[in-house]
Amino acid sequence: MSEQTPTGQPGEPGSTDPRSAGIRIRRADQADLDQIFAIEVDVFASDAWSRDLMHHELVDKNCHYVVAVTDAPETIVGYGGVLAPRGSGDADIQTIATIPAARRRGVGRVIMNELLVAAREARAQRVFLEVRADNPIAMGLYRSLGFAEIGVREGYYQPDNVDAVIMRLDIGGQQ
Ligand SMILES: CC(C)(COP(=O)(O)OP(=O)(O)OC[C@H]1O[C@@H](n2cnc3c(N)ncnc32)[C@H](O)[C@@H]1OP(=O)(O)O)[C@@H](O)C(=O)NCCC(=O)NCCS
Repeated sequence: MSEQTPTGQPGEPGSTDPRSAGIRIRRADQADLDQIFAIEVDVFASDAWSRDLMHHELVDKNCHYVVAVTDAPETIVGYGGVLAPRGSGDADIQTIATIPAARRRGVGRVIMNELLVAAREARAQRVFLEVRADNPIAMGLYRSLGFAEIGVREGYYQPDNVDAVIMRLDIGGQQ
């Protein structure tokens, strides 16, 4: 993957978004674990993954993780990952987060676009994700990218007892 400047519009990888000047996207690896895990704990609190699980994700050959970074010194301001086993036809957005100070600058959208590119490269036909029903911001991002709600898992998020909304994007015609 080439490094990419964040995009401003859905489905337009490569275009620039002036709100995110100075932030670039690159492939993540296990050297990024400390910074990613610090953001994970801060952003997701009771829903945060364990450090071991995050490490597993970063080294899983079926996963593609990216980070959004600022330079001098390089600092991670967002990350996201997709599980896209080649040949399965399905991909799952595993996680996405940006730090509060970097939000609403198009960074989340470019991370998602980058994950969708990776899913297409793995020949996925469908991309799935789960989102808390009380997270309208993330759902707005996903809807704007074309994801549609296909189901609900009641009480999936514990201990908060919040439903998970399952969303799907068909990308089979966009290879
Ligand atoms: C969801 C999240 C990744 C979005 O990141 P971001 O960098 O702010 O996203 P962007 O600036 O690219 O915004 C993308 C879209 O998200 C929606 N959005 C973002 N912030 C919003 C807000 N404060 N109010 C309403 N919609 C919002 C909008 O649809 C926006 O598109 P627009 O700017 O064209 O209107 C970020 O808010 C976050 O990390 N949240 C906490 C973790 C989380 O909920 N992750 C998702 C788990 S399923």
